[in-house]
Amino acid sequence: MTDAVSVAWGRIGDVSRRTLGELFRADGGRLAKLSSRFEWSEGDTANGIRFDWSKTHLDDALLDGFEELAEARDFSGQRNALLSGAKINVTEDRAAEHIAQRGTGSEAAVEEAAALHARMQMLVEVIREGALGEVRHLIHVGIGGSALGPAMAIDALTRDLMRVDVHVVSNVDGLALEEAFARCDPATTLVAIASKTFATIETMTNAASALRWLEQGGVADPSGRVVALTANPDKAVEWGVDETRVLPFPESIGGRYSLWSSIGFPVALAAGWDEFEAVLAGAQAMDRHFAETEGRANLPLRAAFADRYYTSIRGCRTRAVFAYDERLRLLPAYLQQLEMESNGKRVTVDGQPVNGTSAPITWGGIGTDAQHAVFQLLHQGTQLVPVDFVASIAPGDMLDPVHHRILLANCFAQGAALMAGDKGDDPARHFPGDRPSATILCDDLDAAAFGALIAFHEHRTFANAVLMGINPFDQFGVELGKKMTKDIEAGGGDFDASTRALLSVTGLQP
Ligand code: F6P
Repeated sequence: MTDAVSVAWGRIGDVSRRTLGELFRADGGRLAKLSSRFEWSEGDTANGIRFDWSKTHLDDALLDGFEELAEARDFSGQRNALLSGAKINVTEDRAAEHIAQRGTGSEAAVEEAAALHARMQMLVEVIREGALGEVRHLIHVGIGGSALGPAMAIDALTRDLMRVDVHVVSNVDGLALEEAFARCDPATTLVAIASKTFATIETMTNAASALRWLEQGGVADPSGRVVALTANPDKAVEWGVDETRVLPFPESIGGRYSLWSSIGFPVALAAGWDEFEAVLAGAQAMDRHFAETEGRANLPLRAAFADRYYTSIRGCRTRAVFAYDERLRLLPAYLQQLEMESNGKRVTVDGQPVNGTSAPITWGGIGTDAQHAVFQLLHQGTQLVPVDFVASIAPGDMLDPVHHRILLANCFAQGAALMAGDKGDDPARHFPGDRPSATILCDDLDAAAFGALIAFHEHRTFANAVLMGINPFDQFGVELGKKMTKDIEAGGGDFDASTRALLSVTGLQP
């Protein structure tokens, strides 16, 4: 840690602790300072998202301290490096160019993205026009970043648009693929193999089984029904996918940041190209805000200030996200990978130990269901858990408006209750209150709002990484387990007694 970083942390640590109630009473302008509406235009109309961080403990003194920390960590320089396509992923000696897919970045990367998108659009359109025969189903095999983003986007955006019935299959457990097979007809099914490396054992095993299923289902040319989405096009061709159906994306896009690239193919196929472009446009609007806004007014950076405060100063080990919208039920799972794979690191970019806890454990669920399952701990448990609520003013459903009214009433009541608490008549009924939450409220969760929401979280993750001095773009922590799996498959490995026994009783090794 440099001196300037230590001084800033010292200043943050010295800020006197006041309750949320005290903070609101002390500053009449608090809501205006910490709650902002982010807006963009969609044709003739405006859409927006309200980001309300006023129910967190951030105050002027903390914001000053965190701005000092951001400066000490050269946040502006790091952000420029990210946006200009510099090799910011130092451990892998490459840039992180997912933002170029949305039109921001080095000229070369933006041009390449446009060309790759044009190729993808063409394939989507010819498939929809029937070039590959009737396509009613798509089995998308992929895992991690090659599955979580597409699955979430399809769930969020294609409920009333679904032109192709998409099944995202990630787990190598054959039950997952069998479930998809049971719902698809091989004669009208396409298979998309989504893998940055085209080498992930789970995905390649599922891909081979899906191909066999097509064959056994009487499809004359099974490999003619396969599309590859990958940063390793040569490997896809070698595997047997015709070059015309390989949709590449650049190596400089990390798996968990790849929804915007050809990994978004099933979204474009199911929802239509215009919807996919609207997702990119919403993300681009957030990119502009992130690139052009300084200090605490920068929404992802402000969110990261709160994240760091709770993790580093208040010792919170987890953070929770509750989507009060069925369309975002997969958001917590998506954010788990984005945040934990990016920032779950123990060393900084310089190889020094991270100061304190790095990424908190991201968890969450859907409102109102979670209220009846886990909110007890949030209100009365011994651990402090900062919570994000995500909702939309416009309902996604067409039923009696009472549904949406009750949904939103619950969402806002939970944030209010966590903060206010209640003395209660006896200890068991006592709610301590002063528990923080942030609210992200979309005007209307359409494709652009969805894109902006996800880009916000990407930038928030990056901002957290910069404040900690971490490289968020590598993931070496996943490698050791993969290597040991390969060792087992190859009949080798040097394992402990417990693992040897497990291998032996299951017949995996003698
Ligand atoms: O094991 C982790 C990981 O490498 C993720 O980072 C990635 O999203 C996932 O596996 C899938 O990788 P691939 O797209 O190369 O199959």
